[in-house]
Amino acid sequence: MKSPITLLSIAILLSGCSNNSESLSSPDGDLELSFTLTSQGEPSYSAKYKGKPIVNPSLMGFEMKDGENLTDGFHIDSISQSVINEIWAPVWGENDSIVNNCRQMTVYLSRGSIKMDIEFRVFDDGFGFRYIFPEQATKHFTITDEKTQIAMTGDHMAWWIPGDYDTQEYEYTCSRLSEIRSHADDGFMSNVSQYRFSPTGVQTALMLKTDDGLYLNLHEAALVDFPAMHLDLNDSTMVFKSHLTPGPDGTMATFDTPFKTPWRTVTVGENATDILASDLTLNLNDPCALDDVSWIHPTKYMGVWWEMITGVSSWNYTDAENFDLATFDYSKAQPNGRHGANNEKVRRYIDFAAANGFDQLLVEGWNIGWEDWFGKEKDYVFDFITPYPDFDIKALNEYEHSKGIKLMMHHETSAAVDNYDRHMDRAYDLMNKYGYDAVKSGYVGNIIPRGEHHYSQKQVRHYLNAVKKAAEKHIMVNAHEAVRPTGLCRTYPNLIGNESAMGQEFREMSPKHVTILPFTRLKGGPMDFTPGIFKMDIASFAPDSQNKRATIANQLALYVTMYSPLQMAADMPEHYTAYRDAFQFIKDVPVDWKKSIYLDAEPGEYIVAARLDKNSDDWYIGGVTNDEARDYTLAFDFLPAGKKYMATIYSDASDADCFDNPEKYKISEMQVNSDTSTTIHMARGGGFAISLTPEVE
Ligand code: NOJ
Ligand code: CA
Repeated sequence: MKSPITLLSIAILLSGCSNNSESLSSPDGDLELSFTLTSQGEPSYSAKYKGKPIVNPSLMGFEMKDGENLTDGFHIDSISQSVINEIWAPVWGENDSIVNNCRQMTVYLSRGSIKMDIEFRVFDDGFGFRYIFPEQATKHFTITDEKTQIAMTGDHMAWWIPGDYDTQEYEYTCSRLSEIRSHADDGFMSNVSQYRFSPTGVQTALMLKTDDGLYLNLHEAALVDFPAMHLDLNDSTMVFKSHLTPGPDGTMATFDTPFKTPWRTVTVGENATDILASDLTLNLNDPCALDDVSWIHPTKYMGVWWEMITGVSSWNYTDAENFDLATFDYSKAQPNGRHGANNEKVRRYIDFAAANGFDQLLVEGWNIGWEDWFGKEKDYVFDFITPYPDFDIKALNEYEHSKGIKLMMHHETSAAVDNYDRHMDRAYDLMNKYGYDAVKSGYVGNIIPRGEHHYSQKQVRHYLNAVKKAAEKHIMVNAHEAVRPTGLCRTYPNLIGNESAMGQEFREMSPKHVTILPFTRLKGGPMDFTPGIFKMDIASFAPDSQNKRATIANQLALYVTMYSPLQMAADMPEHYTAYRDAFQFIKDVPVDWKKSIYLDAEPGEYIVAARLDKNSDDWYIGGVTNDEARDYTLAFDFLPAGKKYMATIYSDASDADCFDNPEKYKISEMQVNSDTSTTIHMARGGGFAISLTPEVE
């Protein structure tokens, strides 16, 4: 699909190559990137913001199998520069149009018969570069290491999670870069596979703040056909080096020419809100590849889910042991009496979700195999098409459709990826047959086949292939435990969500987590964080589960502060019935936006965001704080001058507290305009949510 609004001007300037350096400035001139080929023929780059270095000279290139090192001995054949200036409209998003304005430079390098180009794009808010291997005599390349460096200019503060090839389900540590090593073992989870490649290895997107008060974010964009990149820090020199996720034979990636790697990116801002507002990752991805996007729609959903997560009911239908899917006879099996996805319960949830305006209802544990899914690393556990005896797939879909909403499919693969690939066509066809148009997939456990990692090249190909195949069948995908997103939702907008971080599932987490995720994980794309938990005293109904550390007002705010076109109301119907007036905000809040403004933020501390509904003139505001209570003065000066709005404010009660009194909130109304400001109390782990409706004059 072509961008509907395009103001594109491309000027190609082919320079001669008499010198070995070339610079490129951002459109506003504040950011300057320099490329240099050293006297040893090593490609390198550096960057300055307003004249001050932000990335020191950093080497580039790859180590190849058979000892061919693409790190030095290069010659510059030519350099070209051009300008991109366009406005494009996302299918869904934080804003209904996005400016893509940057300067581009391609350095055409050769080393004997090998050709490797480096393409740079410099925006006002950061830059990216990628390696391009054009068609050449050598067809096939095998990479054993990527040598790209990102040399920091100091011992910055960092919000980081450990380098792990298989999971991002960690809480973030905030420390100086020099302190990462001393936290090396923090936060490792015992129930997931883990591989920490170095005591100073971290994952992207990595959030940084310099002592000069500049904010930096390191990530990658358009991860296609390549392993995910981690960063390994030399904590004497403060130089990061790319560390690719290896495949089973220890090599990192293979490809045939022509080939382009993903972009390596650095976003920069003087305010923390600049990082939140940056569209750099999306802009570095290709335009939408789908001709017809009419079937893709932002979705608000509920689920027969929280009761399984908290242990109240089970995904499995029986408690059978020594289970073998191929021979097990469910018709003779003794049900365990705790199976969540049963006809009666699903109908009850459908009634509630439909009556409250939701689009879909996720049902997990609907299909056979859950008796044997976890921990045994079996190839064949699920077939993704056979319902349990007490889940009447035909009747439930008909019932759901009669109420004007849809069921959401669930495919837990148990990380048996080849098995999922073998069943994918039939699984998607079943969805088409019964009228499902969205699937939540999952990759819990060690990847089968063994030796592969969640973020290795084969897996990265699998996740995108699953999204592309789904697009052919008009299915939207929300993949959990898949590789962290890198803006591919621009190209494939049926990728409406990912987890790929610690969401609000199994564990108690620090209140600050939600003030960091928008600076890190969300820079690649939306997250299915599953907000909206109202009953915080989980031990009162599920003794084996951990309590959540958030207030109800904080949970409401997340629908605004954590952008996603896919938002769940994750709690159970009875917990919403108990707090109907607060639930109203979840019912009202849109999932698609005309305009978004990050009003105020500091990573790890607080975030305040305002968004304008795509389909009305209503604004919504969300504010969240960490484990510090604060009184926040909110100015409504972003509103159009002269217009009056009725504000409904959902905030923490004065005695609310995420540890001791999480369910206490108050709801008030006030008339506001662009001159109004008001002070709102946020409890520890608290926040506020506001809806603004224009007053009829
Ligand atoms: C992990 C997912 O993140 C969670 O949401 C899901 O319920 C379980 N896997 C079971 O598939
Ligand atoms: Ca998960």
